Amino acid sequence: MTSQPEIETERLVLRRPRLRDGPRIASLLNNYQVTKNLARVPYPYTLNMALDWLLRQKRDWTPETITFAVCEKKGGLIGFCGTHREGQFTEIGYWLGQPYWNRGYMSEALKAVLEWYFANSQSDTLISGVFYFNTASLAVQKKFGFVETGIGKRICLAQSAEIDHIETQLTRSDFFRATRTQ
Ligand SMILES: CC(C)(COP(=O)(O)OP(=O)(O)OC[C@H]1O[C@@H](n2cnc3c(N)ncnc32)[C@H](O)[C@@H]1OP(=O)(O)O)[C@@H](O)C(=O)NCCC(=O)NCCS
Repeated sequence: MTSQPEIETERLVLRRPRLRDGPRIASLLNNYQVTKNLARVPYPYTLNMALDWLLRQKRDWTPETITFAVCEKKGGLIGFCGTHREGQFTEIGYWLGQPYWNRGYMSEALKAVLEWYFANSQSDTLISGVFYFNTASLAVQKKFGFVETGIGKRICLAQSAEIDHIETQLTRSDFFRATRTQ
């Protein structure tokens, strides 16, 4: 699809990335405390890497392959949340710049993206996961009905290591059950 979706929540706007987001992305992602939690983001992280990544983001999207810049309504871009194909599955991933942690922002963003995903995709399942030490991210996922399905190994580029990765999965029915009362 070519029209560009935008999702609004109480405090956030989630919109498609733009090339001019490069410097802001580079400044937030060039932080080992962020990248050590992510599989595919190297550290140090440079402006050229951000621009290269942005150039590879396609205008065309499907619910299974989309990235949203997570923006404070007042302050601008603070992180990302997006889906991509991982083998036969759709995986969801996300990050926030460290100054924005622990304010409920990713809970707010992820809930909105999951609602949008299940409204726009025929699929009933999403996968995700966290490196074994990432308790905050696992806590966010569990709030929305993700369940652990096993432990695998994932390469973490920033750590240059293969690390235990708790695999998780969310079904449409578990998401709606988990959020019915929220
Ligand atoms: C993981 C991350 C996205 C969380 O975003 P956030 O906006 O800080 O998350 P929220 O504030 O919405 O929720 C965090 C939850 O984790 C809990 N939490 C935070 N630190 C925790 C810890 N050390 N142990 C257990 N729970 C923790 C919080 O209490 C909160 O749960 P609650 O709402 O029930 O109180 C953010 O820390 C981040 O971007 N980290 C670096 C990148 C990353 O890890 N990405 C995910 C890869 S799987």
